[in-house]
Amino acid sequence: MPCSIGVIGLGRMAQAILLPLFEKGDIKPFEVFGVVGHQQSIQQVKDQLPSGVKICSSDDPVSVEALQAPIKLLAVKPQQLEKVAKNWSQIKTPELSVRPLLISLLAGVQLQRLVDIFSKHVCVRAVPNTPVLVRAGLTGLACSEKLDIDQQLWLNKIFDPISEVLHLPEDQLDAFLALTSSGPAYIALMAEALADGAVAAGLPRALAHHLACRTLYGTSLLLKEKEIHPSQLKDMVASPGGTTITALRHLEKAGIRSALMEAVVVAAEKSRELAGFS
Ligand SMILES: NC(=O)c1ccc[n+]([C@@H]2O[C@H](COP(=O)([O-])OP(=O)(O)OC[C@H]3O[C@@H](n4cnc5c(N)ncnc54)[C@H](OP(=O)(O)O)[C@@H]3O)[C@@H](O)[C@H]2O)c1
Repeated sequence: MPCSIGVIGLGRMAQAILLPLFEKGDIKPFEVFGVVGHQQSIQQVKDQLPSGVKICSSDDPVSVEALQAPIKLLAVKPQQLEKVAKNWSQIKTPELSVRPLLISLLAGVQLQRLVDIFSKHVCVRAVPNTPVLVRAGLTGLACSEKLDIDQQLWLNKIFDPISEVLHLPEDQLDAFLALTSSGPAYIALMAEALADGAVAAGLPRALAHHLACRTLYGTSLLLKEKEIHPSQLKDMVASPGGTTITALRHLEKAGIRSALMEAVVVAAEKSRELAGFS
């Protein structure tokens, strides 16, 4: 049976999207045909996924089947797009009654570039983040044109169960990525540093790690559920002459606010710069 979804680049991000979908049965393994860059990666990828997912390498002739699927998830690194484009240009496209959908996860690579390569496709840029793995992700979407109902249903089927989906103008996607896709790394770094601080202050490592994660989790839940502005929450916690304001003074002196702002700005710039690879 031909697959429904061809995954071109079944690496970390594609797996982060597919695993929770397989787990709850939103998508069945036999619907997916994944392609990787090297034969050596096949077994490693197979070990991560349920049986039934077809996987081959890009130099295997059967990879044509994934490239001809009506729904394609493009998830190679931006630097690898040229090779995919070359493979694609050598493939005969089957006549389909509906136009196929190409969903690209590539940072920075613009819709026009995707449309130029996959000319008969309706193209979508999708920017998910890794919390999709626990169905708590965010996905930004920009489309090359209006989707028909089936294409919209496919997008819903893939991204709705694992993330909050936001349709955005394409020129906002780089900033979206800089905050949401890179964001888990900023937060993870904070969790690690806070735990280190607690260890330095005398707590055992495992307890410090648990407390740091739980504090980040509880705080984001509180901000979201009670719709409190961050500055309001900060003021609620920092009592006059107390421990928190003393620590905040230290953080401000160290430039934490501008460091975080700059991190998002440079990540957005890097995303735009990566488009130069295509
Ligand atoms: N990581 C994130 O949080 C995140 C978030 C949003 C978007 N993204 C985007 O997602 C994309 C993938 O990132 P990643 O972290 O998942 O990278 P990754 O783990 O390196 O995955 C890339 C995959 O592409 C395969 N590949 C390489 N050349 C190929 C070819 N010619 N044909 C088919 N497959 C090929 C690789 O196989 P081999 O390993 O065998 O070479 C690997 O399976 C990137 O464009 C990134 O911008 C990532």
